[in-house]
Amino acid sequence: MKVYVTRPLPEPSVSELLAGFEVEIGVRGEGLSRVAPYVDALLPTPADAVTRSLLESAPRLRIVANCAVGTDNIDKDACRERGIVVTNTPGVLTEATADLTWALILALTRRLREGEALVRSGTWDGWKPMELLGFGLQGKTLGIYGAGRIGQAVARRAAAFGMSVVTFTSRDAPERFDELLETSDILSVHAPLTSATRHRFGRAELSRMKPGALFINTARGGLMDEAALVDALEHGPLGGAALDVYEHEPRVDARLLSRSDVVLLPHIGSATRETRLQMARLACEEIRRVLSGEPPVNRVV
Ligand code: DGY
Repeated sequence: MKVYVTRPLPEPSVSELLAGFEVEIGVRGEGLSRVAPYVDALLPTPADAVTRSLLESAPRLRIVANCAVGTDNIDKDACRERGIVVTNTPGVLTEATADLTWALILALTRRLREGEALVRSGTWDGWKPMELLGFGLQGKTLGIYGAGRIGQAVARRAAAFGMSVVTFTSRDAPERFDELLETSDILSVHAPLTSATRHRFGRAELSRMKPGALFINTARGGLMDEAALVDALEHGPLGGAALDVYEHEPRVDARLLSRSDVVLLPHIGSATRETRLQMARLACEEIRRVLSGEPPVNRVV
């Protein structure tokens, strides 16, 4: 049985868990349409689109084991209609993503990017009372949109910084979302991208945030209207943003690149060696199970 892994993964995962299957490893997912007619299992990443037309050309496909917790890169309706199992990798990336969210919050509030650039430029000439003044966290309010595993892990860390926390989940009353927008000094996004959450943070919502509020996104770029975010930075009310994800990855709105009030990372929320190995192992295990006739553990479809 043939398995296509779109990109190299941390080993030993593929070599150990998929031993016995015919495995092809791609480079940047570019082989997906070529292999689709022959594969029994696919192991894509969030950067690989598993579309309806791809699925239509894959008659043998039994499982799409995404190497991510988010599955917005996969046409799940098309999988459901064709009886193709979809799995993800929940749990193992919670702490790494929460840590990176805090790295972004601290980098933005304490102006680490500008400070580092100053020292590296060789022009820093010593301590000054007014240099690179940041934004203190103690006593401020952290808003969390999407209080699942990652949102809760971010909230736990907020206690150590003396912040109060307001959360919003899809089960909350709409007024709670208003409260989130209107009271957060820092608003951090931790929800999956679905048709209901796409552009949840658009022009209207961003314009209702507090003057100087900071916007953090380590979830999916599609949750925000990136152009509206830039406008809210240029014209208010936002005081800054820190992003690990973008609406049209890997493209980033050019206006963000030159701003000093933003911190930009290349979608590395889960990028620790330990976490990426665990994600790869979970995805490989699901393929081994399904192709051996066993039920998957982290089934999404
Ligand atoms: C995910 O798992 O959805 C992340 O975006 C990649 O780690």
